[in-house]
Amino acid sequence: MKDLAKKLSQEFAQTSIENTLKAISERFKNKITFSTSFGQEDQVISHIIFTNDFPVEVFTLDTGRVFPETYKAYNETLTKYGKQITSYYPETTAVEKMVTKKGPLSFYESVENRKECCNIRKVIPLKRALANMDIWITGLRASQSDARAELDLFQYEESFNVIKYNPLTNWSLNETMDYIKKNNIPYNTLFDKGFVSIGCEPCTRAIKKGEDFRAGRWWWEDNSKKECGLHAPEQLEQTTKINIKHIK
Ligand code: ADX
Ligand code: SF4
Repeated sequence: MKDLAKKLSQEFAQTSIENTLKAISERFKNKITFSTSFGQEDQVISHIIFTNDFPVEVFTLDTGRVFPETYKAYNETLTKYGKQITSYYPETTAVEKMVTKKGPLSFYESVENRKECCNIRKVIPLKRALANMDIWITGLRASQSDARAELDLFQYEESFNVIKYNPLTNWSLNETMDYIKKNNIPYNTLFDKGFVSIGCEPCTRAIKKGEDFRAGRWWWEDNSKKECGLHAPEQLEQTTKINIKHIK
């Protein structure tokens, strides 16, 4: 699979997103899925999939802790394109146990607690969404963070046993926003308030001028820990405690 990912990256390096999606839809029939959190990047990809009617399943992981503005963007997307978006939820018993034992803001207490919450609310549902799929499309961009700088167009993700396709690998934030405006695509209005990378409400804040793109995500943690397990599953195993207590 690793070799196949490498080959695909070479084969489609100069191909448009539309033509790549067309080609892989035929090659990996009914085995392609796209995850959206309704961020700017995801909205570009949803637009391309929906307007071209590509046979790609589109899904979201509803953690139960997202912003009202995210639900608004979600609903506007359903209305504009009239297509289905599959919603995955965390397992009820696991959430009940965690919150009963540790309270609703346990993620501020330690990296371990934060990863437990991300694992229950995002990673385990993601595993269900990716089961039996060959290709997982994401809205990752290389310039989003140092950890993502080495991003490939196609790359094998061992923990989920899928090949990730990152069509916007080399796009900048400006290119993404220009595409959204030009094509009149609905987007999360929090973006206009400085929220450039948007996750769950208690774990996301706006960034200030000059701050890193992902500075508003889990801002109380040190930079090296700032992946939730969706895109760095191996980090879930790390359970380093931190001292900083944060109350929003
Ligand atoms: S995260 O790992 O830090 O949360 P980020 O918010 O940068 O990820 O989003 C990167 C990509 O991960 C998105 O383009 C999308 O493909 C996927 N993703 C992130 N969060 C979700 C979610 N809640 N539901 C579905 N896909 C998601
Ligand atoms: Fe829980 Fe925060 Fe992770 Fe959302 S981002 S799943 S609220 S720790």
